[in-house]
Amino acid sequence: MNIYHTSWDFIRHRFSSKTRHGVHSPFVYELIDQCIYASDPMPTKAVISFFERLKQDSSPLKGMDYGKNVETSVSVSLYARRSAMPNFQVALLHRLVHFLKPTSVLELGSNLGKSLAAMASVDNSISITGVEGNSDVADFANHSLEKLQLANAKVYCAAFDQFLSEGNETYDLIFLDGDHHYDPTMRYFKAIKERLNVGGVIVLHDLYYSKGMKRAWAEIKKDRNVTITIDLFFFGLLWIGKNQAKESFSVKYPSSLFRIFF
Ligand SMILES: C[S@@+](CC[C@H](N)C(=O)[O-])C[C@H]1O[C@@H](n2cnc3c(N)ncnc32)[C@H](O)[C@@H]1O
Repeated sequence: MNIYHTSWDFIRHRFSSKTRHGVHSPFVYELIDQCIYASDPMPTKAVISFFERLKQDSSPLKGMDYGKNVETSVSVSLYARRSAMPNFQVALLHRLVHFLKPTSVLELGSNLGKSLAAMASVDNSISITGVEGNSDVADFANHSLEKLQLANAKVYCAAFDQFLSEGNETYDLIFLDGDHHYDPTMRYFKAIKERLNVGGVIVLHDLYYSKGMKRAWAEIKKDRNVTITIDLFFFGLLWIGKNQAKESFSVKYPSSLFRIFF
């Protein structure tokens, strides 16, 4: 990620995006009003404080680094600081699951399990599947889910391509959070749109992470089956449908910059 370019993208997005008041679609207005800008519910304190404590855990986790394609050893604390999603973002995922009420969720890229736990803690009747390629990290995530008593969530250790080519389950919400580059994102998008239930939503993380990711998002928006897209800078939400009008929204998120830091 190039911080300089990403900061410019963020400033540009802040000035060009809308709040709920510039939006005419009733569905998108309601989503912004009651979910994206809502302050509650948050993931349980137990989930947030569990992952905060991991920032002090220096135990090493060995396995594949999918960014560099090499075997590495990285401390839990480094993963918790560098790879796990910030609290204001996991809060939005938690609210999305609360608002959209999926019965099945797939997450590609689970790392220590923070975003997975935030989604799983909404309701224990929702079945949540995570996929993580690094075996030590996947084991650690499963132990964390056990400690948090989130029996409805489980992490499978597999490469995304392997997981997507082997199964045939379908999901109501699919969250892609790994390999933020053009080729892999387009490849995973093609595979996951076939695994989305009617009316389901795909959530992409880090739309502005790289040039390739921005190009992938621009192309995905043009896909003939994609109907509504919402660019929240940190996340892209999209719905698939046939013979429906396309509508793209760029929405200011979070509503106040204060939320990024607190
Ligand atoms: C940014 S982290 C995910 C953070 C997590 N969603 C959270 O917020 O707590 C991305 C994870 O995806 C995994 N990953 C990346 N590319 C992968 C691939 N092709 N197959 C399997 N895992 C992959 C990495 O090992 C890393 O742990």
